[in-house]
Amino acid sequence: MFSPSLILCTCLLTARANSNPNLVAYPSILNVLPEPFDRPTFLTNLFYQTTLPSNAPPKYVAAYATLHNASYISFDPRFATLVVGSAGPIEKVALIGDGSQEMPIYLKDEGVILWNDNKQFKTINVKTYEEAPVKNYTASLPIPNAPAGTINKGQIYLGNFGDETVHGGIWLFDYKTGNATMILNNQLGLSIGADDICADDRGGIFFTDTPARVVRTNRTMQSPPSLYYLRLSTMSLIAVDPTLVGPNGVALSPDGKELYVNDDADIYNAPNNVEAQVLTSTKLGMTVYVNSAGPRTIYAYTLSPTTGLPTGRRTVAVAEAGFLDGMKVSSSGLIFTAVFDGVDVYHPDGTRLGRINIPDASPNGQAVEKHVVNLVFEGDTGNLWCFADGGIYRVPGLLVKGDPRLS
Ligand SMILES: *[C@@H]1O[C@H](CO)[C@@H](O)[C@H](O)[C@H]1NC(C)=O
Ligand SMILES: *[C@@H]1O[C@H](CO)[C@@H](O)[C@H](O)[C@H]1NC(C)=O
Ligand SMILES: *[C@@H]1O[C@H](CO)[C@@H](O)[C@H](O)[C@H]1NC(C)=O
Ligand SMILES: *[C@@H]1O[C@H](CO)[C@@H](O)[C@H](O)[C@H]1NC(C)=O
Repeated sequence: MFSPSLILCTCLLTARANSNPNLVAYPSILNVLPEPFDRPTFLTNLFYQTTLPSNAPPKYVAAYATLHNASYISFDPRFATLVVGSAGPIEKVALIGDGSQEMPIYLKDEGVILWNDNKQFKTINVKTYEEAPVKNYTASLPIPNAPAGTINKGQIYLGNFGDETVHGGIWLFDYKTGNATMILNNQLGLSIGADDICADDRGGIFFTDTPARVVRTNRTMQSPPSLYYLRLSTMSLIAVDPTLVGPNGVALSPDGKELYVNDDADIYNAPNNVEAQVLTSTKLGMTVYVNSAGPRTIYAYTLSPTTGLPTGRRTVAVAEAGFLDGMKVSSSGLIFTAVFDGVDVYHPDGTRLGRINIPDASPNGQAVEKHVVNLVFEGDTGNLWCFADGGIYRVPGLLVKGDPRLS
């Protein structure tokens, strides 16, 4: 059908998208780069850091500089119309020391985001940006190295790695009383840990156990890295995918039909591929590796309508560099995943829609720190909060909202 109002509507959308000065579209001239081009440090540099020949026409160099500076980079026009709209520039609201800033949970009634810098539970007020330690929590045991946290219908679930003296596991947390209670710290006597976690509507939680925990605990993995499902009514622990290498972020689609999981090449054996580039993290005398030849894959699992458990897995996408970390899904079903220097946004069909670009996520410029660790939507406000190595960043006024389950 040919309708004048439809044409008008399309024109307005285009005009609005193009008028956001913070958004830059990846230009088509970059589909064929002048030779010889290269990305010599391909694991730690991003697309706008590709090296061009010295005689490259200035338009290529200018295109990369413009992309590097932009708050939002679109690869598909839907990024403008479905995600960015008239969003403002990304704002750095807190400087934080290098670390692993994790677990962000938006607590709507309190007007704060609860998070953990792996030493202390903290809150940041979403209006005043005031930070405060969560002082009066009482725990049945210490909770060292707690990267995992989520909320569903007011119940907060935490997951941790443990350390050299106590094992990690799964916790219930009551923010109002501060009561933290451990509900699982082993798998039939074997160590277990949680890097990321999400709760379904059937009384179960998915979590990821990753070899990245070995450097924080000085404990070897006693069972394979895996995506687990814990059915709380019976405390049944099910290893639903032990073929993952370094499972990390985990998030449900808002309709509960799919589960998304990030898999990284976090391994505790040095890569044997001499051409590979490697990031290492060494603590307590143990090392983990991020290997360029290993996976950095977002998988989607189809969940059975009867059991809620995965029945099949497909690849959604592969990150271009670094490694994938925390992940959230918008109420509209788009996948937002933390990566090096920003957040990548994917349609569940695998299309890379765009990037929320945070190129100074690292204050020290070390490769492993150039990284957004986790993210959380501020409910239905359109604001997205990114917790990076080095800072907390507020992305204001997006067209997308958080999954209403998560506040
Ligand atoms: C990038 O940002 C810097 C600092 O704001 C500015 O000096 C420079 O002109 C910008 N470059 C482009 C290509 O926009
Ligand atoms: C801590 O205690 C105070 C009063 O005793 C209470 O108002 C608050 O909700 C508790 N929880 C946190 C996380 O501060
Ligand atoms: C803390 O929470 C656990 C689990 O919900 C509960 O069994 C326990 O009684 C609570 N403790 C206190 C002091 O409220
Ligand atoms: C790590 O564990 C090994 C073997 O148990 C032990 O020899 C070593 O001292 C531990 N390292 C640290 C830093 O605790």
